Amino acid sequence: MEQQNQLLMKVSTPKVRYRPFGLLAELTYRCPLHCPYCSNPVELAHTNSELTTEEWKRVMQEASDLGVLHILFSGGEPLVRKDLPELVAYAHELEMYTNLITSAIGFTRSRALELKEAGLDSVQISFQADEAQLADAIAGTKAHSRKLEAARMTRELGFPLTINVVLHRENMGHLSRMIALAEELDAQRLELANTQFLGWAFKNKEALLPTRSQVKEAHAIAEAAQVRLRGKMEVLYILPDYLGDRPKPCMNGWGRRFLTVNPMGEVLPCQTAGVIPSLLFDSVRQHSLQWIWHESPAFNRFRGTEWMPEPCQSCTQREIDFGGCRCQSFLLTGDAANTDPACSLSPYRNQLTALVENIEQHSITPPAFTATTTHTRPIHFRTNPKGLPVRLAQPTAPSRDRISTGGYPIVSI
Ligand code: SF4
Ligand code: FES
Repeated sequence: MEQQNQLLMKVSTPKVRYRPFGLLAELTYRCPLHCPYCSNPVELAHTNSELTTEEWKRVMQEASDLGVLHILFSGGEPLVRKDLPELVAYAHELEMYTNLITSAIGFTRSRALELKEAGLDSVQISFQADEAQLADAIAGTKAHSRKLEAARMTRELGFPLTINVVLHRENMGHLSRMIALAEELDAQRLELANTQFLGWAFKNKEALLPTRSQVKEAHAIAEAAQVRLRGKMEVLYILPDYLGDRPKPCMNGWGRRFLTVNPMGEVLPCQTAGVIPSLLFDSVRQHSLQWIWHESPAFNRFRGTEWMPEPCQSCTQREIDFGGCRCQSFLLTGDAANTDPACSLSPYRNQLTALVENIEQHSITPPAFTATTTHTRPIHFRTNPKGLPVRLAQPTAPSRDRISTGGYPIVSI
């Protein structure tokens, strides 16, 4: 009986209940694009000490030991790291499913073949719009044509392709054309994600927040595409938090299924959690991933439901949406433990409603991205970390790779 009790206690401890399935490996914050909704931190003060190849391998081994099955190589732009194929090969050896999340800049044919050889399973390319003028204006650089070439080459090489589009006021009217573009590029999956107002997007919320009528129309278009394309292309539509009644189950619950390791080795329950100043995120340079996942105060702070205030504490949805998003609660109310204002039951809901109404009343008439002088609220484009610039080399002689990337291959570090 004593033994049975001990076993039961073990089973109900967080150590056993919480197991990560996915690891977001943010290899670098450097990126050739400058999207104003980037989820990378707005302040990139100390980013000149990226984890080394060997450190990443240890992280992956420890993640695999914890039960991680899926690794997403992301950034910034992960292709900036010249050791990417080595890291992919290592993850492949550990039998993890490997996914590259890329702007496609630097995804040359030779690089793609190298990654295929290393065992890369799938590729996700971000698109800013369906056409070059708007897309390049949003990206803050000329990138659209290179993305198109990279997407075609991705399919030609047999990789499954996901196209990801962040939706906001400026590109929402292009939704039907973006769906058509994804079909034309033979994507297996299209992620249409309404902007999450975190990171740079929070800084740019006045320019990015869509109107209610835009969202209503986009919803109908996305739903119709889901039905029409069933069995051919999976269409995922991620609802906008600010204009809904209930929050999303952010990260499927804090410290429950996912972990993020940032370029400096800090481990976070989500990629934007660094915005919460009361939390200290432990580093893989000081602790094992196992210790951080199970024991670190930051991972345990919002795990489960015990930490929840009312109305979440006695709400029937608490095991479904996990009280929403901690980062959003912090950004909107100043305290990450408050009920997410995206929930209509939150005592802070009025603040969000007032914010949305204020933005709607003073909304900027498009095209905010292409105009330079007429806007009272300028757009803040994402900047790169100091000290480690992204170097884009000018071509010196024509080559297959240079032609396929529009002539601007990334020079690896
Ligand atoms: Fe979710 Fe809390 Fe709102 Fe209930 S009160 S729906 S648990 S955010
Ligand atoms: Fe951090 Fe939602 S993005 S908890």
